[in-house]
Amino acid sequence: GTTQPTALVIFGIAGSLSRRKLLPAIYDLANRGLLPPDFFLIGMDRPTAEHTDFVLPMLDAVTTHARTPLRERTWRWLRDRFRFIPGDFGQETPFIALKETIASAERRNGIPAHHVYYLSTPPSCYAPVAEQLRRHGLADARGGARSLLIAEKPFGYDLASARALATALRRAFPGGRILCTDHYLGKEALRNITALRFGNTVFEPLWNRRHVDHVQITLAEDEGIGGRAEYYDGAGAARDTMQNHLMQLLALTAMDEPRTFDHDTVSAEKTKVLRAVRLPSDLDTYAVRGQYTRGRQHAAPVPGYQQEEGVAPGSTTETFAALKVEIDNQRWAGVPFYLRTGKRLRQRVTEISLVFKNAPTAFTGESHRNPPNVLSLQVQPRQGVELRFGVKVPGSTTDIQDVTMGFDYGESTLPPVPGEYESLIADVLRGDTTLFPSRPEIEHSWRIIDAAREHWSRRGRPEPYAPGTWGPAAAERMLRSDGRAWLRSG
Ligand code: BG6
Repeated sequence: GTTQPTALVIFGIAGSLSRRKLLPAIYDLANRGLLPPDFFLIGMDRPTAEHTDFVLPMLDAVTTHARTPLRERTWRWLRDRFRFIPGDFGQETPFIALKETIASAERRNGIPAHHVYYLSTPPSCYAPVAEQLRRHGLADARGGARSLLIAEKPFGYDLASARALATALRRAFPGGRILCTDHYLGKEALRNITALRFGNTVFEPLWNRRHVDHVQITLAEDEGIGGRAEYYDGAGAARDTMQNHLMQLLALTAMDEPRTFDHDTVSAEKTKVLRAVRLPSDLDTYAVRGQYTRGRQHAAPVPGYQQEEGVAPGSTTETFAALKVEIDNQRWAGVPFYLRTGKRLRQRVTEISLVFKNAPTAFTGESHRNPPNVLSLQVQPRQGVELRFGVKVPGSTTDIQDVTMGFDYGESTLPPVPGEYESLIADVLRGDTTLFPSRPEIEHSWRIIDAAREHWSRRGRPEPYAPGTWGPAAAERMLRSDGRAWLRSG
């Protein structure tokens, strides 16, 4: 744990991210004794008819969504450190109340607290909230305490707007640090990637174009867009999960070893590799988008994207995106990275797979087939590492058969895996920002996504695909054009 008092302020505490992820994660941290002793939590939002102090909705959020079971003692500890400030982010009054609340807690503790401001609001509120913080003298770090502003994705909707937002936030919040979260970087199986690569001797020597044929990164969901049309219809898959999550998975997979594992050094390596990412010239083949149709999934009828409530009639928003990228550097030249993401696909799975080159041997067995070795980092729902290789089928045959060797967190004797927001919030409270993407990373990711979207904007509609499949046929064709296939397909 840490001993520094910390004020964590959540703007938009009544919103769904806060209820489903942030508050449960804070409770889980409290349950594990990982919050500082002088921690206090402040929530600001518009008041609703549901409550006056947000205590009951918070209890409900914790009971429903926390990873660890509700313990009366932990709950009381947290509730005693919580204060709700009703108000509109555009008004002065709630910020005056915020200032007083923090000041009186600091007087009680006798030292200034770290200020951590979490923007769990629509992006349009980011700059106005930051501006209010500055005007009320809440943005500056004082007396050795840190002042941090955390923005949730989406951070902009293209490169230009991301730059404008960063500039606006910097202007409004000059004294402190500004972070943007990518909750995938909180996922344990992904946090393991640097340890796997650089803390072992057997993997890194193979991690390059000499041995790797290509890399596949899949972030697939079986759910549709749920009730989020208002946001999603203006975003689409490329902006929603490719610009951020997939690009971060790519960066962590492909980067060189950072000299040290602090934020700036890691970020410099990630930026270097993202800067080297290049799209192929034939984007008709290598930039694919799709949209799910009406159909059946897990044996139940499901509406098509066009029928989802709130989707604009005739919407061309993509719910699936696949992209081939190449990385122009010594390590990866000529090794394609295939990325895909989408809603209403066959199953929920996120994984990074390195597919190795075929063994340079005459031993192909009776099957005349040498299945490639595959190393998969499984992010979810299974969390672990899997290595696929060939063994000789027992008996008097030389046939080769694929087998897998695996590590699974759930089946191991390791401590339980914390939730992603639990890890990220714990990092922030310790002052460790290593796993937050930096501004150049975000901007290079936008550069890539903008180029793909620019191409699509000059084409017709996204290709329809049936729910419960692996997306549109063009995504299969994309790999077939290169003589390859997705590891999960059909
Ligand atoms: C979010 C996207 O960033 O990530 C959602 O906005 C998506 O559309 C979600 O469903 C997936 O995250 P996870 O952690 O459930 O895989």
